[in-house]
Order: sequence, then structure tokens, then C-alpha cells
Amino acid sequence: SIDSRVDALLDEMTLEEKIGQMCQINGAGGTVPEDLKTALKEGRIGSILNEVDVAAINEIQRISVEESRLGVPVIIARDVIHGFKTVFPIPLGQAASWNPEIIQEGCRIAAAEAASSGVRWTFAPMIDISRDARWGRIAESLGEDPHLTSVLGAAMIKGFQGDDLTNPNSVIACAKHFAGYGAAEGGRDYNSTLIPPRELHDIYLPPFKAAVDAGVRTFMSGFNDIDGVPATGNAYLMRDVLRGKWQFDGFVVSDWASAWEMINHGFAADEKEAAQRAINAGVNMEMASTTYVDHIAELLQEGQVSEATINQAVREILRVKFEMGLFENPYITEDNQYQFAKPEYLEAAKEAATQSMVLLKNSENTLPITKDKKIALVGPMAHQAYEQLGTWIFDGDSTLSVTPLMALQQEMGDEQVLFADGMAISRTQHTKGFKKAIEQAKKADVIVFCGGEESILSGEAHSRADIDLPGVQNELIKALKQTGKPLVLVVMAGRPLTIGEISEYADAVIYAWHPGTMGGAALADILLGKANPSGKLPVTFPKVVGQIPMHYNHKNTGRPANPHSWTQMYDIPVKAPQTSLGNESHYIDAGFTPLYPFGYGLSYTSFEYANLQLDKEVYGKDETIKVSFELANIGEMAGDEIAQVYVRDLVGSVSRPVKELKAFKRVSIESGDKTTITLEIAVQDLAFHNIDMAEVVEPGDFQLWVGGDANAELSASFSVQ
Ligand code: IFM
Repeated sequence: SIDSRVDALLDEMTLEEKIGQMCQINGAGGTVPEDLKTALKEGRIGSILNEVDVAAINEIQRISVEESRLGVPVIIARDVIHGFKTVFPIPLGQAASWNPEIIQEGCRIAAAEAASSGVRWTFAPMIDISRDARWGRIAESLGEDPHLTSVLGAAMIKGFQGDDLTNPNSVIACAKHFAGYGAAEGGRDYNSTLIPPRELHDIYLPPFKAAVDAGVRTFMSGFNDIDGVPATGNAYLMRDVLRGKWQFDGFVVSDWASAWEMINHGFAADEKEAAQRAINAGVNMEMASTTYVDHIAELLQEGQVSEATINQAVREILRVKFEMGLFENPYITEDNQYQFAKPEYLEAAKEAATQSMVLLKNSENTLPITKDKKIALVGPMAHQAYEQLGTWIFDGDSTLSVTPLMALQQEMGDEQVLFADGMAISRTQHTKGFKKAIEQAKKADVIVFCGGEESILSGEAHSRADIDLPGVQNELIKALKQTGKPLVLVVMAGRPLTIGEISEYADAVIYAWHPGTMGGAALADILLGKANPSGKLPVTFPKVVGQIPMHYNHKNTGRPANPHSWTQMYDIPVKAPQTSLGNESHYIDAGFTPLYPFGYGLSYTSFEYANLQLDKEVYGKDETIKVSFELANIGEMAGDEIAQVYVRDLVGSVSRPVKELKAFKRVSIESGDKTTITLEIAVQDLAFHNIDMAEVVEPGDFQLWVGGDANAELSASFSVQ
């Protein structure tokens, strides 16, 4: 068995070889320098990240397997976050598809491409709950909801890992960042988090538990501290919860130098203490910094780290290496090298992009555009082969990109598409390009403005305090609108941008995220009605940045906001008597409601929900609730709807969120058709951490809603005994 092989190998290892397994270093970029050769021969490296050259990787493995004393292969790791050469939409965009199958398939393709370059471990999925659009890494997340993130994160893991880790086309996945990183204060990357224990367990941890259940083989500890305890030194999270409660038997890698950074946190006096804290808390492998290599032997000698702790840390790493079949098949075979961008991969990337785009507005059926119309295509993201790929695309091949300009010209012919970017990049501060753009707009029947933010404006270390459209984009949109032509606003971005005011100037709005390689082709299909938009928001869109944090599953409070009092307020001066507004939980200048709720997204057709029925009125704790309803496509076009079920636990030993997503399904329905849908919710899925921090389903009354977004109104009641 694997365990006996692991134990036999462990028995033979010297302390130095064990510590070597716990060390992950950065690759040398396509070469194997002499010092690396020596380190490999001496068994001093467990894993290498950021090497994607097949010859170098095969040489690294040859030295490890054939020239080191015990022949232990290394694992080659890389951030394969939303595709490798073929780039899929950013994860936040993929989440807008609410489609676990398509997400799983995208990750299978990413794994196959990456593995053909020698990468067998990806640092994905990132399943940090993200409620703050200022945070640059929201782009890499699956949004704000624990249930959606759990389902889609599990799909990613299954896609990357497949059902056989020894398959040369599979890569092992990494659930990151454990835990709470997404709650960075003020959305400032790397910042502290303050997450009350109940919120940690009910909101932030469920996707990680789902990752363990999906079979994820590795975890990454976060950069952040939670209430003063850095995630990388957090024994409660990594020992009590991850290994103890969840029985995870894979291994944990630190984030880049996050062990060392515990010195900066003020949690360790020096590197030695940082190493001691990290290993004792449960970090098996240290990424990039060298506190383990430099100090574990000494810590063992002094009794600050036990031999059992070291053995266990190494055992968990070796187990995964055996599971991957790396000892038997360490090399990338010739027939499986550099297999990129196959036609079916590009087709899958296009479908993923199509399903991820969200139609936010479509006044008077501005969209779809008929092909006889002339389009003025304007804006800084209309023809940006690289920028449309989004953040974390180390290996993404922008020469494969189909931009909106390319796709529209292809579909309509060059004469029908009048192009002028109007501003070279999103951050352009001058108006020199406006004249030409306006001239083109005047000659066209409809304006399509492709704006947003470049990939560099989101992602790690790229948080923004102002999340309006950057540069003079708003001015250009207003100037274009003065032509009187219908205007379609397309936003390519790594986060929700505050587009409330500028949307007023647009007749239609499509949120395209950073859509990846095939983004332009997907967009053209939607603009021209070859595809019907079907994405739904995986995060709440605030009106203004000051509303953040904002999420649909908030508490009711003692003075719940009344959305109508806000509406009255908006049109009257701030001086208006407060009594007309109600002393409720809202902003006097921004109200309470978001720009668009979680789950929102329009279609070219319309859907109607009816006849909601539950199979029972009263459920036992081990039963399953069967929620049935009719969904009709009452419009003119076939389309997909994402049906969502929300539940509220009315009274608890602690107050409960006003709504929580508990089930969803993407359904295709022909125009004029109607279907009955039954979704199941295990009563156990209504559990939460009660007043005593026990995870329980509390008996009592519940309300349930079904509909197309978090404002769903069709409702039923049930109780749990
Ligand atoms: O995987 C990433 C992580 O998300 C952020 N820091 C660096 C790691 C490796 O590149």
C-alpha cells in the first residue's frame, strides 16, 4: 500500500533529506544550474515552482530519481488559475456561469495543457469568500457565497485532479488560502482579518470543507492574520479543523514566504521562531523562504519541534507523491509534450466565456444587434489581446486571443464595424482620441463601448480604493451618448466596478469580466444574438464604493432597512427631515440596496417561476427537502436560466442571515416551453454554529424563496423538528 511505501521510505531518510522534502524553491527558468543539480542530488528539494520547460523538468526529475540517494521525485508547481495557454475567464467570471460542469471541463483542459509542460500541481482553486470589490484578488475568487463557492470550487478540484492522480494529464489542486484571506481589512491585499469565530465557520470555512470532501490533495496557508494569529502559524485552523475535524491527509504549503513573514507580523522574533511556529501549526512545506531548511534541525535538537511532527509533515508530502505515481512516471513523455490550444480547448473557452457574461441592462431590446446595423466599436478594451486575459496568466498565449474587434469584423465584415478606441488604455487621462471615436459613432447605427480595467488593475497586490471606470472612460461614454445613438456598454474587469451612474447613459450593459482567450468571440455571439446571455452575478454589485462590504446574506439587524425609504431619499435634499427616512440601517446618501443583487442577470428572453411546492411541511433533521417549481420561458428565444433557492432560518439561538443560497441549477428552456424543476436540500445543510459554537440544525420555522436572483419573491414555509 501507499502508506507502507511511505513509511519504508521515511525510515531510510536522513534528517536533511526529510527537511529537503519540506522545501519548495523557485525554478531557474528553463535551466538546471549547478547549485540546483547539487541540491537535487543531495535530496534537498521537495518541490519546484514556476518551471515550465519540459527539458529542464525532465532533467530535474532525472537527477532526483536517478542520482539522489533515495530517488524521490520533486513536484513541479505553477499557478494555473484559469487556464494555461488557452485562457478561460477569470474565476470570478467563471463563477458567473454557475455551471459546475463547464468549470470542471475548463480545469481539465488547463490541467492537460499544464501537464504537457511538466506542471503537476496547481495553486488553485482560490476559494476565499470575497465580499469586497476593492480587493484585487476578488478576480481569482468564486465570489461572495459559501454554497456557490463550495460547489464550483469542488468542480475545479475534480477538473484539475480528475479521478486518477496518476494520469499524466492530471494536476493536483490546492485549496487556498486557508483561511480568511478574502476578509482583508478595507480590501487592502495582505491585510489583517477580523472574522468572528461563527462567521469563520459558517461563511469562510465551508468551501474548504467542500474541497476536502472533493478530494483536494493540498492546501495553502494564507498571508493574513486572523485576529492576530497569522494563518501560516495557525494551529487551530491547520491542526484542529483541517486535520482533526475534517480528517485531511494531504499536505499544506505555505504561501510565498508567508512563514518568514510571521516576523513582520510580530508573531515570531526571528526566522527560527517563524519555522517553529509554522511547522508546529501544520505547514508541511515552505514556499520560497528558507526558515525550515535553515532552522528545523536546530529546533529538533532543542526539543522545540518533535521528530514525530517532522515525520508526519514529510509523510503527508510523500503520500501525495506516491498517489501521483511520480515514482513510477516522473517524466513528461514525448507524445505528451506541449499539447496546447487544441480546437476543442478553444471551443470550451468560448463556451465558458459565453456562459459567464452577464447582461445587466437591455432597455427597449437594444440587444441583440441585427447584422444590417453598422457598429461603432469604441473603448480601451475593444482590441486588447493580452488585457482581456485577466490576472494570473503566466503562460497565457495572447497570440491566440480573439478580441471583440476581431470577432465582430469576422462576423459582420470590416465595413460594418467602425473602430476607434477613443483612449488607448483604461487609465488614459486625456481626451485626444475622443474626436475620432465620436466621428465613427456618428456614422454608425449603434455604439458598442468596450471598457473596464486592464488585467494589471486587479489580482494580487492590486487593490483599488476607487472602483469607478478608470481614466476618462465616463467622459467618453457621455460624449458618445450625445450622438443620440443607442449605446451598449461592455465592461471587461477583474471585479465589480461602480458603474451605477454611467450605466444611465447606456441602453444596454454587458458585464464580460476578463473573459480570456475567446472573450471577443463569445461577446460577438452575444451582441449579435447568436448566443443568449445567461450569466448571473456571483457577487453583489455596490452602487458606490462606500457601501462596501456588501453581501446579500447579511443579518436583518434590529432596524432593518426599508428599500423604499431610501428611494424617497434619493430625490430629495439631504436636509430632508430624517423622520421621513426612518431610522434604519442604511446610508442617507446611498441607501441600502445594491446596484445589482447577488444572482442577478438578464436574458434576451424572460422566465417565469410558478407553482412552488415543498414535499412536506415539517422535516426531520436527517431528511431532504424537495423543492419543486415550474419555470417557463415566456419570451421569443431559447435560453438558459439559473434557478436559485434561498432559505432563511427565522429564529435562532443567534441571529441568522436574511437569506442563504442553498441550491441552484442552470436550465435550458426553449421559447414557449415550461419545465418542472425539483431541487433537493438536505436539512443538514441548514446547520450553523449556534450560541455554543456547536454545528447544529435548530428546530423551528424557515422561509424559502425560489427565483432568478437574491431578490426572489416566490416563497414557501416549512419547519424542522
Ligand atoms: O499561489 C500563489 C499565491 O496565491 C500568492 N502568492 C504566490 C503563490 C505562488 O505563486
